[in-house]
Amino acid sequence: MGVLLAPSLLAADFLNLGRDVSIVNENADILHLDIMDGSLVPNISFGFPVVDAVAKISTKPLDVHLMIVNPWKYFQRFAQSGASMISFHLEAARLGGKDASELLKELKSLGVKAGLVINPDIPVENLFPYLKDADYVLIMSVFAGFGGQKFIPESLERIAKVKAEIKRQGLSCLIEVDGGVYEGNAKALAEAGTDILVAGSSVFRAEEPARVCKSLKGE
Ligand code: DX5
Ligand code: ZN
Repeated sequence: MGVLLAPSLLAADFLNLGRDVSIVNENADILHLDIMDGSLVPNISFGFPVVDAVAKISTKPLDVHLMIVNPWKYFQRFAQSGASMISFHLEAARLGGKDASELLKELKSLGVKAGLVINPDIPVENLFPYLKDADYVLIMSVFAGFGGQKFIPESLERIAKVKAEIKRQGLSCLIEVDGGVYEGNAKALAEAGTDILVAGSSVFRAEEPARVCKSLKGE
């Protein structure tokens, strides 16, 4: 199986969201939705009205990336919106004094795929105790908060380490990578062990998004 592509709506044209969701329907595998609260991360993105609207026209699974404090408060609400995948930051669990394993189980009980996210400054080893409970881990290749940042090259090594640990434990946990993904690093990311590539600017700011989607997927 090749890599799955999840364009991030954050880089879409918000005056033409319908058109940009169609680009994902036609050329990609998953629609990635970045929810930012201005507290866990310095930026604010969009919330339920936008997610509910795009859910109506998306034919692809919705992947909700929660960059918010107290993410568990909203698990059910995003599941109701139609999310198939929901991830939260390990930092958010720690800040709220919650056990990430319990939160992952809570997500699964809502019938969604459960994901755990870490920023580039968190040692990847911190993910290892949770790999057995996560359907996927999201390794940030930029600091969460903004689209259009430059890919951090050390991410490749981090992905390979997590992939090796998933194999060692005999698990089926997938690896998603988010931030600064473009045609120039997609192949290396897939080779390092990435299963799901998130790409915002490189898809939606492209002149030919369909061609870029194919190229990112290695087709
Ligand atoms: C950043 C978000 C990303 C962002 C990626 O905090 O999690 O999903 O949209 O954007 P690009 O692909 O432009 O780096
Ligand atoms: Zn994201």
